[in-house]
Amino acid sequence: MSSGASRGRCTPRSDAVHSRAVARIDLGAIERNCARLPKPLCAVVKANAYGHGMVAVAEAALAGGAAWLAVATADEAAELRAAGAGAPLLVMGALTSDELRTAVEADADVVAWTDEVADAAPRVHVKLDTGMGRLGTKDRELALRLAARSNAVGLMTHFATADEPGDVHFPAQLAAFGEFTDEVGRDDLIVHAANSAAALRDRGSHFDMVRCGIAVYGLDPFQEGPDAHGLEPALSLHSWVASLRRLAPGESAGYGRRWRADEPTWLATIPIGYGDGWRRALTNNSDVLIRGRRHPLVGAVSMDNVTVALGADTDVELGDEVVLIGRQGDERILVEEVARRIGTINYEVTTGLLPRVRREPVR
Ligand SMILES: Cc1ncc(COP(=O)(O)O)c(C=O)c1O
Repeated sequence: MSSGASRGRCTPRSDAVHSRAVARIDLGAIERNCARLPKPLCAVVKANAYGHGMVAVAEAALAGGAAWLAVATADEAAELRAAGAGAPLLVMGALTSDELRTAVEADADVVAWTDEVADAAPRVHVKLDTGMGRLGTKDRELALRLAARSNAVGLMTHFATADEPGDVHFPAQLAAFGEFTDEVGRDDLIVHAANSAAALRDRGSHFDMVRCGIAVYGLDPFQEGPDAHGLEPALSLHSWVASLRRLAPGESAGYGRRWRADEPTWLATIPIGYGDGWRRALTNNSDVLIRGRRHPLVGAVSMDNVTVALGADTDVELGDEVVLIGRQGDERILVEEVARRIGTINYEVTTGLLPRVRREPVR
């Protein structure tokens, strides 16, 4: 370690980092992922576009060839309209009567599986529950009756296990949905079922439109990595080395002394924590990239900071850029790796990044 490490640099060294924790969103990657996915494409941008920033992502998805946008809530639809989105919009979630009014005022289509919703909305997509066991009706007669109404514009279902190649439930759901659409027998309805996994796995699930979320963001619905599907991760997560100290053997880092140095060790403090959505389960259980090399996160993730061990000697300096998700030099940390370490899925890692992490659109 050069003595420069302890000289007081109090701003990030890299021009890439302008605040404590930044999620950089590559809108070009969003566009290219959409261009690669089957068409017609409905880009699912609910939950702040899986944490990526809804309005900017929606614009990029449409530029990449998406024809529709889907959200979960009426407020999300209203926000997209207020931002000027003119594309057809589908609200997929369950709605209270107030929320239904908001969705209709936003000129959005809604999903219906009851007469009440079908009575109150000008355009509905009738949802048959073919085995997801969540939303939609299992009552085929009701679904057929709703599908015969003049305000029915779509038929849909949702798969429970499309991300588990080789399972038998997915083909059974697909067959049940195919039989239902045949029985409805209207060719003026938009028929849609496929999420990202189904869209990537089985052409027979595409019908008239695919509804892709996770793949739009360049993340793998099968939790391995994006390369196999030619997708590009759009989100990278950056922070900076805000403090450096040298620990003697036996000295510890952070709450609960969950890690202790067993040799003289340089320790970097990075200003990101579970208050930003960097989960506490990553305590002693993840790496970050600094100067193109992996370093282990050591000690407890706290609300605003994490600590990283740099070894007995290091060239890392105050102000260096830290990458928690993404590439630096020849190294790369995928969202799928972070998810695997804490027993969750990539969806939850990006969606769980909190508003305190600034979203910075780039191209
Ligand atoms: C009804 C529905 N369709 C499509 C999607 C998109 O799924 P994915 O992100 O796996 O592509 C979702 C996401 O949860 C959904 O709830």
